[in-house]
Amino acid sequence: IRAIAVLTSGGDSPGMNPAIRGIVRSALNRGIQVYGVQRGFAGLIQNDLELLTSASVSNIVQRGGTLLKSARSLEFRQAEFRQKAAEQLAERGIEALFVIGGDGSLSGAHLFEAETGIPVIGLPGTIDNDIFGTDDTIGFDTAVNTALDAIDKIRDTADSHERHFLVEVMGRNSGFLATHVGIAAGAEMIIVPEHPVDIAALSEQLALNRNSGQGSSGIIVVAEGNEAGLTYRLAEQLKQHGQSPHVCILGHIQRGGIPSGHDRVLASCLGAVSVEYLLAGYSDILVGVQQGEVTDIPLDNLLRYRKGLDPELLRIALQLHR
Ligand code: F6P
Repeated sequence: IRAIAVLTSGGDSPGMNPAIRGIVRSALNRGIQVYGVQRGFAGLIQNDLELLTSASVSNIVQRGGTLLKSARSLEFRQAEFRQKAAEQLAERGIEALFVIGGDGSLSGAHLFEAETGIPVIGLPGTIDNDIFGTDDTIGFDTAVNTALDAIDKIRDTADSHERHFLVEVMGRNSGFLATHVGIAAGAEMIIVPEHPVDIAALSEQLALNRNSGQGSSGIIVVAEGNEAGLTYRLAEQLKQHGQSPHVCILGHIQRGGIPSGHDRVLASCLGAVSVEYLLAGYSDILVGVQQGEVTDIPLDNLLRYRKGLDPELLRIALQLHR
């Protein structure tokens, strides 16, 4: 292998930069050229690539976002554009593509390899931790800690004013982020798509807490789910049951910021090891983590299976409700 390309795609996540650095340094140290693709698959189609040097990835491990920019490309869903991108890579002598991104981006990467024969290696980059086959994803730990930081602050004002807050966290249609954040924040309740919420019972519980004299304030962590405006709807429903919760949507703050030490190590390791996988002849794989070990997962598994929320974690989280 003489040259590879690397891109970041989909929602950015803190730790994408150390992952890029891991790939670049590990490849350059083996005499392999590395092209950085701007703006994910969109840049691949537009042939927007440039050679990266060791210095290009200096001083980036501590930076949130992605040096290479990211995007969600609609064009890449069409075979003709995937073909065009493959031809452009071949013209530059690029023999493999590294894709750092979430579920959708990695599924696109699998299709690309299947149609064009260009080897693809995926790395899990998303704050959602919803990728099948890997226990952890680059950016998840940082996003949990960012949300905790915000919730700890919300708690101060919730406590002073004896209010309940519905705090919405990201995670798309998965409750991973919400469950971890809820447990770590000591949330009074956690609402996730994997467990239906009974508004009447929730309202009764809040009233009970308030009347007991110990629960005049509280935090309810809500996973955004697939429904836009879900948390406002829940607040409205609670109002109809006599409660008056405030709503705080944490939003994109969860995607930014300095990557945690955990995410920097995870990203650097996955980046460096992914190059070893390519050189060992692997392709069409996700390089992820299972039970603390770096491992490979066939990318087509991502099309066939969905990562479910750990039922044991959910069971424990529900036990911590008040
Ligand atoms: O997949 C990462 C994520 O941040 C989700 O948690 C969220 O639902 C989505 O991306 C938001 O995407 P966008 O920034 O494109 O609106």
